Amino acid sequence: MAHDAPATRPANPRFSSGPCAKPPTYDVSKLSSASLGRSHRAAIGKERLKLAIDRTREVLEVPEDYRIGIVPGSDTGAFEMAMWTMLGARPVEMVAWESFGAGWVTDAVKQLKLDATVHEAEYGEIVDLASLDWSRDVCFTWNGTTSGVRVPSGDVIPADREGLTLCDATSAAFAQDLPWDKLDVVTFSWQKALGGEAAHGVLILSPRAVERLESYTPAWPLPKIFRLTKGGKLNEGIFRGETINTPSMLCVEDYLFALDWATSVGGLRGMIGRADANTAAIADFVEKTDWIEFLPADPAIRSNTSVCLKFTDSRIADGAAFAKAVQKRLEKEGVGLDLGAYRDAPPGLRIWCGATVETADVVALMPWIDWAFHAEIEAQAAAA
Ligand SMILES: Cc1ncc(COP(=O)(O)O)c(C=O)c1O
Repeated sequence: MAHDAPATRPANPRFSSGPCAKPPTYDVSKLSSASLGRSHRAAIGKERLKLAIDRTREVLEVPEDYRIGIVPGSDTGAFEMAMWTMLGARPVEMVAWESFGAGWVTDAVKQLKLDATVHEAEYGEIVDLASLDWSRDVCFTWNGTTSGVRVPSGDVIPADREGLTLCDATSAAFAQDLPWDKLDVVTFSWQKALGGEAAHGVLILSPRAVERLESYTPAWPLPKIFRLTKGGKLNEGIFRGETINTPSMLCVEDYLFALDWATSVGGLRGMIGRADANTAAIADFVEKTDWIEFLPADPAIRSNTSVCLKFTDSRIADGAAFAKAVQKRLEKEGVGLDLGAYRDAPPGLRIWCGATVETADVVALMPWIDWAFHAEIEAQAAAA
């Protein structure tokens, strides 16, 4: 029997996991333009870049003795900059539970050819962090954007570890608590939980990470874009907003707008609360629906940003084709854009639940998923 289409549509159908939905109050005309068309080294440019750093510290509650820098190449640039400049001093534990973490493993093993031990978990699971050797450097991703998992807490990371912890927090920052005392390098890009623009990365360093940079020189050459030290000393200018090369001042303005919006919804606590409420709306739907499940079975490790779902109905003949067809129906109706599972992940849906997404829109999307599911089951039966 054909199901009627739901009466209510999400006001904003954007559920992409990156670039993510802009803040609800966003309008490009609201971006300040005083710094545009000016040098980033002029007083106005420097002031805006410095403000972006200071506001990042405030909103993310980053300790005063940690450095914050804006670097090229988005999160990838920031994380690889850390890997290339700091790793090699001691053996490394490479930890991965989805494709981005797997990318850092490739960097460590195939490109840098480090003395690396690789720990991997299947999509939907994470590695037991208690099993790692923290006397080594440890590289991991806090939130697995393509598998919908996250590290539940930093408690197992020893405060007195000898190695450094390098954490890719791209889809966690501004949505989850990050235990700064347990993290030596944290990176993210603006395009995720803040709904900012891509291309710029943020690199946050603990005093121990700075100590590594000043005491260790890697055996390999470093391109200018990766160089964080000058004459064996940290290039402190980078952490005051004197970027290595030219940034987009429009992206900086966009980031400043997003940070102001974050403050207006209650700062980090408010942002976490909004992401949690969005995820709860999906959990309610999953709870009462017998043909869909979260990809991660364990609720303790489920993400509140990149929520990954799988279809479990035994009538589904081809899981990948079915999920794609459901996604297409949602796109065609204009009610849910970009919410297919990542290309390397198990088939299903991935719904971004970061704070820039409104809970009312997530709530409105759920009946549409129900509608698209039944429409596709019927289409599959008719074609058989
Ligand atoms: C966990 C994680 N790491 C790295 C990246 C790469 O980010 P970017 O494309 O901004 O460099 C992403 C982007 O989706 C991500 O989710």
